[in-house]
Amino acid sequence: MINKTTGIATAFAVLMSTGSVLHAADVEVLHWWTSGGEAAALNVLKEDLASQDIGWVDMPVAGGGGEAAMTTLRARVTAGDPPTAVQMLGFDIQDWAEQGALGNLNDVAEAEGWADVVPEALQAFSKYDGNWIAAPVNVHSTNWVWANKAILDELGIAQPTTWQEFVAALQAVQDSGKVALGHGGQAWQDATIFDGVVITAGGPEFYKQAFIDLDIDALGSETMVEAFNRMDTLRGFVDDNFSGRDWNLASAMVINGEAAFQLMGDWAKGEFLNAGKVPGEDFLCFRMPGTEGSVTFNSDQFAMFDVSDDDAKAAQAAMAASIMSPTFQSAFNVVKGSVPARTDVPDTDFDDCGKKGMVELAEAAEAGTLMGSMAHGHANRAAVKNAIYDVVTAHFNGEYDAETAAEELANAVEGAM
Ligand code: BGC
Repeated sequence: MINKTTGIATAFAVLMSTGSVLHAADVEVLHWWTSGGEAAALNVLKEDLASQDIGWVDMPVAGGGGEAAMTTLRARVTAGDPPTAVQMLGFDIQDWAEQGALGNLNDVAEAEGWADVVPEALQAFSKYDGNWIAAPVNVHSTNWVWANKAILDELGIAQPTTWQEFVAALQAVQDSGKVALGHGGQAWQDATIFDGVVITAGGPEFYKQAFIDLDIDALGSETMVEAFNRMDTLRGFVDDNFSGRDWNLASAMVINGEAAFQLMGDWAKGEFLNAGKVPGEDFLCFRMPGTEGSVTFNSDQFAMFDVSDDDAKAAQAAMAASIMSPTFQSAFNVVKGSVPARTDVPDTDFDDCGKKGMVELAEAAEAGTLMGSMAHGHANRAAVKNAIYDVVTAHFNGEYDAETAAEELANAVEGAM
């Protein structure tokens, strides 16, 4: 028989023991981490949140670079049903903040001292109007080469250090009958390559003039023509089936020994690791020859949408705190291929590519050659980025010659500004 007092006590005990369930809601997370390596990294995050009783509702939208995810996001927001947390890049975060759609993470940011450990270059995107609106989970960079070591050894090719040596290496692979460059013909992948190629043609100052300052003369200059000429050169080294191929399938070509090189951001390393490959033994990672010293970065951040429900707000804050913890930043980025978004995370658990990435990031920041990736939304807003994508991909597919492409690039950017 239950008397009144015991009943109340029991109800209280239930409330206490299920407190975390009552107070922390689920987070619905929209993201584009759907490849094997990305999913492995996402699991680190899911498990970390699960250990704190934060439930995960998955909203994956496949498509590298996140364009498809951003389209889905717009539809969800228009329907009045935004997800709680969204993987986002650079200027997209600022756009949503400007529209007043994002929540405020100041309390957790202050309590955990984010301002002291998140580099200024990332804070520029995580804060809007002085308020924290997103939590950075990593720093990726786009000007990397991934190479199959066995192919290079077999053909006696040394790691190229200049653009000319790189072209010679690609030629030697092609002459051997293998695919020189594993590439997927999608606009964002063409643009990813262009980040680095523009630096090989004109150096970091030119990259800044063209993509950060949107200097129309630089965009239409002879140096830009040279960058497009170099894209033509690369186009000569892809296989016949490159059109529309996903980036992770291009990585797989290098992993399986079908192709020698891939030009891709360091999320590609996640694919190599996921396939059990070891840096330095099975594959090599190095900066696109001719871009050493420069780093074109992008940072995945989780932007939190403005929600009214207190439980949902608590879950967002808990997720943000979790993402920013140094142990999580190490565990996650070791798998993802990126480097931590905090400056105080030890490199102990990172492989050689990760260690190199961390050193080069710090050096580039110091030298003023750490630059936002045009291809991944860290150089300018989506309208300008998309205008650049259109020209770069049309040229890569033979619609324009290099001269016309540079002219079109200047026009397209001017029209989108
Ligand atoms: C993101 C990476 C992701 C890649 C390919 C980039 O924009 O920053 O996290 O792995 O796209 O999907």
